Amino acid sequence: MMNMSSDVGAESHFILDADEDEIVNISTISSANQNVNNTTSTPPTLPNPTASDSYQLASEVQVSFAPQIHNHGNHKSDSHSGHRGAPRSPTRGSGQGFKENSPLLGPKSDFEHSGEWNQFPDDPAFEESVLAAELAIEANCFPERIYQGSSGSYFVKSTEGKIIAVFKPKDEEPYGHLNPKWTKWMHKLCCPCCFGRSCLVPNQGYLSEAGASLVDQKLGLNVVPKTKVVRLSSETFNYSAIDRAKARTKRNIYKKVPIVGKHFNRIGLPPKTGSFQLFVNGFKDADYWLRRFDNEALPESTAKKFQNLFERVVVLDYIIRNTDRGNDNWLIKYEPASAKAPSSSQTDEDSEWSMVENPEISVAAIDNGLAFPFKHPDEWRAYPYHWAWLPQAKVPFSQEIQDLLLGQLSDMNFVQDLCDDLYDLFKNDKGFDRHTFEKQMSVMRGQILNLTQALKDGRSPVQLVQMPVVTVERNKSAVGRTRADSEIFTQSFSHRAPFFSWC
Ligand SMILES: Nc1ncnc2c1ncn2[C@@H]1O[C@H](COP(=O)(O)OP(=O)(O)OP(=O)(O)O)[C@@H](O)[C@H]1O
Ligand SMILES: [Mg+2]
Repeated sequence: MMNMSSDVGAESHFILDADEDEIVNISTISSANQNVNNTTSTPPTLPNPTASDSYQLASEVQVSFAPQIHNHGNHKSDSHSGHRGAPRSPTRGSGQGFKENSPLLGPKSDFEHSGEWNQFPDDPAFEESVLAAELAIEANCFPERIYQGSSGSYFVKSTEGKIIAVFKPKDEEPYGHLNPKWTKWMHKLCCPCCFGRSCLVPNQGYLSEAGASLVDQKLGLNVVPKTKVVRLSSETFNYSAIDRAKARTKRNIYKKVPIVGKHFNRIGLPPKTGSFQLFVNGFKDADYWLRRFDNEALPESTAKKFQNLFERVVVLDYIIRNTDRGNDNWLIKYEPASAKAPSSSQTDEDSEWSMVENPEISVAAIDNGLAFPFKHPDEWRAYPYHWAWLPQAKVPFSQEIQDLLLGQLSDMNFVQDLCDDLYDLFKNDKGFDRHTFEKQMSVMRGQILNLTQALKDGRSPVQLVQMPVVTVERNKSAVGRTRADSEIFTQSFSHRAPFFSWC
């Protein structure tokens, strides 16, 4: 079943055909992947990074599988129904039980969702953090703009003034209509084609942030601080003069003629939809620590741990096709070895060693708002992954990472579940377009296919990013959350070298 694709400048592709009589398993998929490579006219060796062409694929492969019926793990419908009663804060709930002087849900929102807001029954700890932020705002402890950022991003505080999260409202994103940075406004106005990323869905950075966290959790990578879509309002956010005037007028009317004011749907400033990412303490930009590590080598066990964490960032970025992973957009926490007091029961020899604590290292992949492209970046703006220049990127993927991921990523049901969960998240944006979403998932499936092959072959991150990019498109009749008995996927290779073009 040959078919032609127009998106990726593809030379050829084939269809993965699902047959309902057979159950998919890892070996089926793995042999399918094997076939993919066997059908290429050139074996799946890495292309010369400087060459502009790559291998051709000229055959068709059929993969048989019947998707198993999954109940989608953390799917929300059940958990919502049993959730606790009255909303505890103004942005919580569907507008019932409000305080009259608090910001309430208006009829319109950036994120079309009929359900309850800021409630995360699957994740009480996260919900507590959001509640802490809401209570702090009520107590006039407002979020504070992060001045170095290119958009309206805010450090959200608790009532005690401690930073607990980073909130990025949709309408203050680099190209959102209320972006507070005038340079971005000038870009948008004067030269829209030279700025921004044409491969990304505009003004959905907050979804990309939350989507990255979803992928991170689903795969068990645990390198992205938890991020979800939340609604908050605060005087310190950037509002239009009209919104501020309306809020002022309503407040005045309410004070002077309470009987009229009671009829207002909302008194305060309108809540903004955005990504709410938990703040991680004690971390510094990766750049800072990487320079230090150049001069002082890490102890062996810490270096191994760091390599493992680094690979997790690589996996995340590659799957979501992050276009903005500079070394300032991931953080490292490093606590050098410290001495601790020996316990009284230890002998002298024991205590010598036990007095030295191993250095602790952790990483956090933040600022994931420029990912999930609907097509691969073009040749002249490749948006390379900056970690690919680090020495750690030359080391083949570890056995631990292979063990963690290969089972999941080789399972087409798992991958489809991941796409379905992202669909549930993305579909609520008022600019959501199903066709564009399917394209985003085609890119992601292609990235997963390459990554799976790289893990199986024991390649390194730098070899991974040199693989020709691929998209795996789902049959048009099977879009959305519905799972057909048989699924057809079309795989298209691009013939350019994606990484060593200039950035
Ligand atoms: N979850 C987090 N935990 C700790 N610190 C964070 C977190 N998120 C962001 N920061 C800090 O805030 C800074 C700005 O964050 P971020 O890069 O996400 O914002 P931004 O507005 O997208 O900025 P830019 O566009 O310049 O990249 C980061 O460099 C980091 O120091
Ligand atoms: Mg940043």
